[in-house]
Amino acid sequence: MTDMDKLQYMHGFGNEFETEALPGALPLGKFSPQRVPYGLYAEKFNSTAFTAPRSSNLRDWLYRIRPSAAQGDYRPMDSGLLRTGPITEVAAPPNLMRWDPIELPSNPTDFIDGLITLAANGDAAAQIGIGIHIYRANRPMTDRFFCNADGELLILPQLGRLALHTEFGILGVGPGEVCVIPRGIKFRVELPDDEARGYICENYGNSLGLPERGPVGSTGYTNERDFMYPVAAYEDREGDFELVTKFAGGLYALDIDHSPLDVVAWTGNSAPYRYDLARFNVIGTVSYDHPDPSIFTVLTSQSGIPGVANLDFVIFPPRWMVAEDTFRPPWYHRNIMSEYMGLIRGFYDAKEEGFVPGGSSLHNCMSPHGPEASVFEKASNAELSPEKYENSLAFMFESRYIIAPTKFALETEHRQLDYIECYSGLKKYFDPEQPDVKIETNQQESET
Ligand SMILES: [Fe+2]
Repeated sequence: MTDMDKLQYMHGFGNEFETEALPGALPLGKFSPQRVPYGLYAEKFNSTAFTAPRSSNLRDWLYRIRPSAAQGDYRPMDSGLLRTGPITEVAAPPNLMRWDPIELPSNPTDFIDGLITLAANGDAAAQIGIGIHIYRANRPMTDRFFCNADGELLILPQLGRLALHTEFGILGVGPGEVCVIPRGIKFRVELPDDEARGYICENYGNSLGLPERGPVGSTGYTNERDFMYPVAAYEDREGDFELVTKFAGGLYALDIDHSPLDVVAWTGNSAPYRYDLARFNVIGTVSYDHPDPSIFTVLTSQSGIPGVANLDFVIFPPRWMVAEDTFRPPWYHRNIMSEYMGLIRGFYDAKEEGFVPGGSSLHNCMSPHGPEASVFEKASNAELSPEKYENSLAFMFESRYIIAPTKFALETEHRQLDYIECYSGLKKYFDPEQPDVKIETNQQESET
């Protein structure tokens, strides 16, 4: 079992790191000397094209017991409920959709076998778009490893911690934190709390980075220093192991006689990282109006158009609400971007019922949405004193491409077919004789 308290990290988003698990294992002065210390192999790892601009180029050198090429042939395996964009098995309807949490499995299930895809967009083969999955696990991966060639994995635990043993070292992550494993990095998942559930956004597109700060200045929002990277840690294990790879939407397995987590030293700037979402420096209005949720963007994967995201990862963390003469909840809205939301804990201010931790909702391109009727009534009459939203953490995966639900997502019993009814109580208040018409509050409804 991983001792989560003893894990060590290096700090700083996108830094040029160097780390070695044995003294002198990392070659100095050159990346590929004729002989690497300790009889290790040198292997280069490119997360961006060789010729990507220096400012966005992501690559590493790994020094490992065996090169990754020392492996056999893959065999296709059953992908279960895992799906990849484009979703073609069913048409994407414009309906607003919401789901209850999916239960933890009753049979022994590891991180790979417990993956369920709720939605996807773009095309993984073209490296555009995202996949949205739920993971549920109650069996640790010890002799099984996973590698995803289709995209990087943004993992958001909702129940239970994960110990992610990766080629680059070990990361511990739990509810309230996020971690990202770049495309193609091999890892296995242990379960310090015996079971775990959470959300995954599989980013087929450009690697996630930090959004610009604009006039906010040189610090604020996500601060680089708070991103944590693992120190080198290697496994020198031999046995009957399995490496599962996701490639072009399919799952493939191969038998391997040694642990692929055998990197003794590495240097570079493309590696798994974790971030405590409580460190997000929340910046919002101190005067009036509800700002665009883009002020809460933690990580962004840019598409080819400036300011238009393949994926924005946005959180709604604890914060003060102080806006004067303002309808404080999210406004009624139609958006060219498509919005998938989930809840880690607490509640979300536009939906007081039905949107629960572990659940999710999908509001697609131009599908109108906003506060439910009781929230509208209450917020229209609330006394606007300063108020702190506490113990709540919702998030959004926002994408420029329509997010298509899977057949499972459309047909599962976890889908709330009555979701749309939360808008049914939105009444007509308009009266051309009364500019100052009163919004009635249905006390029974708003107090439940
Ligand atoms: Fe929205």
